Amino acid sequence: MLNDYLKEKQQSVEDHLSHYFSQFPSFPQIIYEAMDYSLMAGGKRLRPILGIAVAEMYDKEVAPFLPIAAAIEMIHTYSLVHDDLPDMDNDDLRRGKPTCHKKYSPAMAILTGDALLTYAFELLSQPNEAIQPSQQIRIIHLVAKAAGVMGMVGGQVEDILNTDKKITIEHLENIHKAKTGQMIILPLLAAAVYSEASNDDYNALKAYGEKIGLAFQIADDILDVTGTEANMGKTMKKDLDENKSTYVTLCGLDRAQTLAKEIIDEALSWLKKIDKDTQVLEELAHYIIKRVN
Ligand code: IPE
Ligand code: IPE
Ligand code: MG
Ligand code: MG
Ligand code: MG
Repeated sequence: MLNDYLKEKQQSVEDHLSHYFSQFPSFPQIIYEAMDYSLMAGGKRLRPILGIAVAEMYDKEVAPFLPIAAAIEMIHTYSLVHDDLPDMDNDDLRRGKPTCHKKYSPAMAILTGDALLTYAFELLSQPNEAIQPSQQIRIIHLVAKAAGVMGMVGGQVEDILNTDKKITIEHLENIHKAKTGQMIILPLLAAAVYSEASNDDYNALKAYGEKIGLAFQIADDILDVTGTEANMGKTMKKDLDENKSTYVTLCGLDRAQTLAKEIIDEALSWLKKIDKDTQVLEELAHYIIKRVN
């Protein structure tokens, strides 16, 4: 059952993440508190779990991969902290709790994001006996690209620039692929490098990731309309409020749901090219559009 798998992996990711910022008595304590507050507020931990699933598919030991998974989750959390800022999406609720800037202050939330992002690279570059230095550099390069201007940040810029504007579906697809898709492809590729996957497998995982990443953000657009605040842990109907173009506003709920399903079917077809047991990755693809949080 995927539910049991998700629970078990979420727990191991939580256990691992919890030791980073929970006990830093040192100067300046508030930033560690804020980092811990946002990182440990919950969250599905989907990105770490995608990486773990790939490592397990290649029968690799998961423990040495956990710091990499943690770094990716820290960068994802930073992106949420900044996404919620008053000058970005202006959200008060995240992961079921007041957003970082509400709990602390906008200045502290900006710094919390900065600190999570830089800490991630500290973690990624620390010696790891289970990983060759050349693999480690490849992984760091992948992380920087996915998080930066060619990935998440670039997508967020386009998202902000096009708020209050009607854009084409092709444009929105590109925004979604950048702002969300790249950070979803990332753990798959990082784990493929860690697992020394073949080039063909690497490319199939990348194509699978492109599809599930796009479908993930389409599902997020859909859930903004159909979800509940209790399940989602964030304010609902926020995209309409902020006048964002989404798959729902551009093509309607039914069409958005159909498109998301078609994209997941394409993702599944890429898994067929991998000569391993891809069952967990198949189930994760289905989960991306069936989720309620
Ligand atoms: C929310 O990501 C932001 C998007 C990219 C849509 P998640 O839905 O993965 O949020 P958490 O990590 O579970 O809180
Ligand atoms: C955010 O997309 C993507 C990020 C890079 C953080 P959204 O703005 O739709 O995410 P939510 O709905 O606030 O979680
Ligand atoms: Mg946003
Ligand atoms: Mg937002
Ligand atoms: Mg959203």
